[in-house]
Amino acid sequence: MRLGVNIDHVATVREARKTFEPSPLFAALLAESAGADQITMHLREDRRHVKDEDLELIKRAIKVPLNLEMAPTKEMKEIALRVRPNRITLVPERRQEITTEGGLDVLSLKENLKDFIKPFKEVGIEVSLFVEPDLKVIEVSKEVGADAIEIHTGRYANLYNEKKFKEAYEEIQRIKKASLKAKELGLRVYAGHGLNYQNVKLFVRELRGFVEELSIGHSIVANAVLFGFERAVKEMLNLIRG
Ligand code: PXP
Repeated sequence: MRLGVNIDHVATVREARKTFEPSPLFAALLAESAGADQITMHLREDRRHVKDEDLELIKRAIKVPLNLEMAPTKEMKEIALRVRPNRITLVPERRQEITTEGGLDVLSLKENLKDFIKPFKEVGIEVSLFVEPDLKVIEVSKEVGADAIEIHTGRYANLYNEKKFKEAYEEIQRIKKASLKAKELGLRVYAGHGLNYQNVKLFVRELRGFVEELSIGHSIVANAVLFGFERAVKEMLNLIRG
């Protein structure tokens, strides 16, 4: 499996003081030199962590692909078509939430998503939808023109962290079925949210060959504060590839 490192929370620490450090750009370069396959960042509507300048700087500086998480809004569409990340991942966004709490409501947004996605495909930007492991949602993701899905692993992560291992294993089976369905439809399959150095091991063991890439942010940044960014990325890579 590949690893995409999400650097949002480096910007969260910076914004705690509204200063210039730590630098998300420096973190992205360290993650890249540690072996990350991709850098991910979420430009939120309220700019609570990553700012527009971070996006522009990182896009120019890194050699690995850039994945921009964003809400499907007009403002974000204009920014993404200008900055040209390699991939966009469409996520739902609610101002009050601490983090992205659920998958995109692909069923209600179906017609809007078709129009939204089209210009990205025309310029060769890969479009991924952040979704729950639900077969109907995956079918509609294909219909609206997505190239890939990123399966929301938050439920799995929470169950594992609460030591509800039987339920966590059941959730993995749900994710496996959803991945198979997506692959049958020709969608690429990624996963992420809430994964950490403990719960990632079972996930990788069970889903190698089903999920191509993991997107991990908070746990890597949390460990980077204590042990350094490169070490945090390398240790996660060892768990994922090892
Ligand atoms: N994938 C998506 C679509 C996300 O919104 C997030 C959180 O920004 C992540 C993955 C990474 O989640 P975490 O920070 O819990 O690793």
